[in-house]
Amino acid sequence: MSEKLIISGGKRLVGHVSACGAKNAAVAILPAALMAEGVCTIENLPDILDVKLLNAISHELGAKVDYDSENACVKVDATEGISHEATFEMARKMRASYYYLGALLGRFGKAAIALPGGCSIGQRPIDLHLKGMSALGAEIELSEGLVKATAKGGRLKGAEIYLDTVSVGASINIMMAAAMAEGNTTIINAAKEPHVVDLANFLNSMGARIKGAGTDVIRIRGVEKLHGCTYAVIPDQIETGTLMIAAAATMGDVTIHNVIPMHMESVTAKLLEMGVHVEEGPDTIRVWADRRPRRVTIKTLPYPGFPTDLQQPISAMLCVAEGTSMVVENIFEDRFKHLGMFERMGAKCSVSGRVAVIEGVDHLKGAPVEASDLRAGAALIIAGLMAQGETQVGELRHIDRGYAHLEEKLRSLGAEIHRVG
Ligand code: UD1
Repeated sequence: MSEKLIISGGKRLVGHVSACGAKNAAVAILPAALMAEGVCTIENLPDILDVKLLNAISHELGAKVDYDSENACVKVDATEGISHEATFEMARKMRASYYYLGALLGRFGKAAIALPGGCSIGQRPIDLHLKGMSALGAEIELSEGLVKATAKGGRLKGAEIYLDTVSVGASINIMMAAAMAEGNTTIINAAKEPHVVDLANFLNSMGARIKGAGTDVIRIRGVEKLHGCTYAVIPDQIETGTLMIAAAATMGDVTIHNVIPMHMESVTAKLLEMGVHVEEGPDTIRVWADRRPRRVTIKTLPYPGFPTDLQQPISAMLCVAEGTSMVVENIFEDRFKHLGMFERMGAKCSVSGRVAVIEGVDHLKGAPVEASDLRAGAALIIAGLMAQGETQVGELRHIDRGYAHLEEKLRSLGAEIHRVG
């Protein structure tokens, strides 16, 4: 039998909990560490499957990888003996393995990797990544599930690159490739997500010269070499948001530690609009609720807008809000699969294209449900925590990819949740 989470709903979450390091920053930083000659010590890593997979890929590519999950830390030494081809089965298992393309192409002037796997939430093309690398002078070849990129003349050349869609992945991949290109690169209409900034800070700690990350114009002066460094990953914005929503959804009172409150502004604003209380400290956020949530409209947008990754978790709360809410998903075209699962639990939802309408009901009822992707999994757990009776959540492999010890954290706050199978 495959594993399931069994949740007995209706318990308020109360107490203190800490956020882990950011998954989306870690999955960029681990491949980027292969660009350095010297040892990179990366701290505050989340203990998730994606991190383990990337460590395994880095190891197979020839790096010395010393991972200490208990201390949330890895040492990566890629000084020599690194292959530029990640053509094995693992690269297909996770989407972020495409970051090796930018990292290896930047350092060696050539790279070959398998096309990405990962969450099924729409088409998720990588055309912008490849366009950016072509603009830097790479020849791109696609064949048999492989992307091969080769810099004409052996080294990439700086260029001005305009992204016609704001893309986190393309901004990160192009930034890595350009960090070791000859001359200057400008990325216009770049993504401003906290993990884009974190990757820029990591590359700069290795000796790169990147300015403007966090704005929509990133300027990169290419350098010839990068060196080792010690770097701590930022706190996870999406895990923090998930815990904030879980606290509010259960009418609980939870303080989350090790967070950057500024990264949470769009979520905080939406929770306040719903009648939830939020109090920020320098690196803490306390969330508590004492009333049924008010209806709201959620529109997902690139940072600093409301993150698409929290659209699914907050939708769970909208199922029991006073009145009818609307959710507009502007980033991914197919990110409403969780609503069908909510309906099994008694929710009233309808979807038309990128817009979902959720009519609040009195309460949800426990039911057997399955996660269709990572954040849908978190949304179903939140729905289970709110529901009357027992909810069984299946397809946990999605959740384990990106949340570290989520059920332990929720249990420590008073949730009745355990894993079977
Ligand atoms: C990253 C995050 C993911 C988050 C998403 C949006 C990581 C590892 N994952 O995903 O959790 O949900 O940002 O905040 O950081 N697009 C193109 N062509 C491309 C690339 C993207 O058209 O080459 C489109 C996508 O289809 C999507 C939009 O751009 O509509 C944004 O995607 P992007 O920001 O690239 O998302 P990811 O980097 O895949």
